[in-house]
Amino acid sequence: MTKLIFDCDPGVDDAVALFLAFASPQDLEILAITTVAGNVAADLTARNAAVIRQIAGREDVPIHAGAQGPLVRAPIEAGHFHGESGLGALPLFEPARGLDEGHAAQVIIDLVMAHPPGAVTIAATGPLTNLALAIRIQPAIVSRIAKVAIMGGARREGGNITASAEYNIYADPHAAELVFASGVPCVVFGLDVTHQVRADPARTAAIAAINTPAAQASTNLLEFSNALERDIVGGTGAPIHDPCVIAWLLAPHLFTLRPCDLNVETASPLTLGHTAVEFRLADPSAATVLWATEADADGVFALLNERLAR
Ligand code: BDR
Ligand code: CA
Repeated sequence: MTKLIFDCDPGVDDAVALFLAFASPQDLEILAITTVAGNVAADLTARNAAVIRQIAGREDVPIHAGAQGPLVRAPIEAGHFHGESGLGALPLFEPARGLDEGHAAQVIIDLVMAHPPGAVTIAATGPLTNLALAIRIQPAIVSRIAKVAIMGGARREGGNITASAEYNIYADPHAAELVFASGVPCVVFGLDVTHQVRADPARTAAIAAINTPAAQASTNLLEFSNALERDIVGGTGAPIHDPCVIAWLLAPHLFTLRPCDLNVETASPLTLGHTAVEFRLADPSAATVLWATEADADGVFALLNERLAR
């Protein structure tokens, strides 16, 4: 059983990742959902998390809103990929349970410090602002966090928001650099691997055939992303970036990881947010970052289907 803090910016694919996590109570004890400004503004990402929580029937899990914007750079949203609300075309409602008190960064600190060293894992599927703030405020959390599973960055795939940068890292490169430089153990799922895991028509149809609220909402979200993928990128089947993080926590054998050094470009206007992933290490066993290189996409979708059916 993994004790988990899930930091996110829902976000269409964050929402599917939330459904996967909420549907896995025998594997994941979700201590808190924390939200951050990213794909859409901070008030919307927090509201969206509460909407998804209610559809999933998991109102036992607290949600804490966090950073209203990045540490240094100007905010950059990705609403064109997530719709104005952040949840594509999903019908919205006012969640019955609101947000909990306490800033996300402080909640991360309090939960990590309240548990024994190595007990708490963090999943991060948005800009890393909350975690960077938490580390800045209380560096003692670094040696107590079991690991941080992150969706972010790109190596061989190039960027998706600019030629060189992936969105989550570009949206707060200074936060990302702080997190990677802190030495906290990180497992990073960048575009190299998330672009292998696509909701093609057959996979989307299989989810559509599952008669649960979470599967039906996921179908709505995936179809929104797939339409954009077709219209903007000209591809079939949008990548499901953020669910990869949760899929790895549930079934690590579905991914191949490689030790690396990871540094984030924070100075160059041209390549801001680029992740420099270096595999040539003097001592790979000393690396604190593992970079995902391969995914078993059929395995990820089999897992997603099985959980969404619960
Ligand atoms: C990442 O950016 C966001 O738009 C998605 O939610 C995902 O976390 C992909 O680059
Ligand atoms: Ca996200």
